[in-house]
Amino acid sequence: MGKIVVVTTVIGIVLAILGERIIHFRKRVWASREIEQNHLPNCHLIKGIEYGSEDITILPSGLAFISSGLKYPQTPSFAPDSLGKIYILDLEDQKPRPTELRISRGFDVDSFNPHGISTYIDKEDDTVYLFVVNHPQFRSTVEIFRFVEEDYSLTHLKTVQHELLHNVNDIVALGPESFYATNDHYFTQHLLRSLETFSCLAWSNVVYYSPTEVKEVASGFYMANGINISPDKKYVYVSDVLDSAVHVMEMNQNYTLTPIKAIQLGTLIDNIEVDPETGDLWGGCHPNGWKLFNYNPEDLPGSEVVQIKNIHSEEPIVTQVYADNGSVIQGSSVATVYKGKLLIGTVFHKALYCDLE
Ligand SMILES: *[C@@H]1O[C@H](CO)[C@@H](O)[C@H](O)[C@H]1NC(C)=O
Ligand SMILES: *[C@@H]1O[C@H](CO)[C@@H](O)[C@H](O)[C@H]1NC(C)=O
Repeated sequence: MGKIVVVTTVIGIVLAILGERIIHFRKRVWASREIEQNHLPNCHLIKGIEYGSEDITILPSGLAFISSGLKYPQTPSFAPDSLGKIYILDLEDQKPRPTELRISRGFDVDSFNPHGISTYIDKEDDTVYLFVVNHPQFRSTVEIFRFVEEDYSLTHLKTVQHELLHNVNDIVALGPESFYATNDHYFTQHLLRSLETFSCLAWSNVVYYSPTEVKEVASGFYMANGINISPDKKYVYVSDVLDSAVHVMEMNQNYTLTPIKAIQLGTLIDNIEVDPETGDLWGGCHPNGWKLFNYNPEDLPGSEVVQIKNIHSEEPIVTQVYADNGSVIQGSSVATVYKGKLLIGTVFHKALYCDLE
């Protein structure tokens, strides 16, 4: 008798926990919106980008770096056998066309699987460093390159690997060899990763890396994804995609991050770009997580771009600037502005360039 009571109780508790987790997960990912079209004038797809433009970052000169061809667990890919690439797009051109950057010898291009990117410019000699999150064989490394503008090539300088950088999604460069990185999961093993997402465990974090010190500097995210820094380099912004929120954190001298506030957006925000002039944040967002994770050509995942103004004020202004139901562009993961134009990138689809007005 006693045994049966114990077993029934244990089963009951397990079911209760599971039920609570399912509700939690539904709230975060399934209960997603159908999207109304909110298009911009003069939009056109960038010819030549067909298999993703997951992250984009623009240099002050108008050169945009684009990471393409990501293969990632739980994420669709239209070209699972194609190699990962970094494209460059000169936004000063009337009709910008992407050029694939050549990568120096010695770097294993066959396993290149680029994800989040970030640049650092050395003020002394104008050297441009490109930091790329890479997933060779689904592991996580950070590759540091020097960009050679004369012949549009990348010279590979260093591969960074560290046990604390176990599931890196995005990075923001702080110096020629230092950065913050988000780990979007705690577990690396595929099944455990899925369980972690499903259970909505808040075990994802931000890590500081330099050649002399590596440490966790922020934690407690459901799925820390995009990361970027304010133009005055005082604040760091982290998107928690499963929480539909942007976290604002203050950078301390010892590189730890102090949480200031979180802004709820009601859409699954992926990468964050910061307008260097206004300090506005631009987010590439997924209005419907279920459609993204369970790709169905009959029921496409849409795209959404939000702008956040006055983020440090009492009342930040959040505006939906662009939205599409998937008929034009699917799975937007990044949005960034240059001289009155908006460039939208996607996890596995194309890239769109629009006039803002
Ligand atoms: C880092 O700096 C912050 C703010 O000054 C301080 O609260 C924290 O204790 C420091 N952490 C370490 C490990 O020194
Ligand atoms: C998306 O919107 C277009 C109109 O812009 C419409 O023709 C199409 O049917 C819509 N697709 C879905 C799946 O709702």
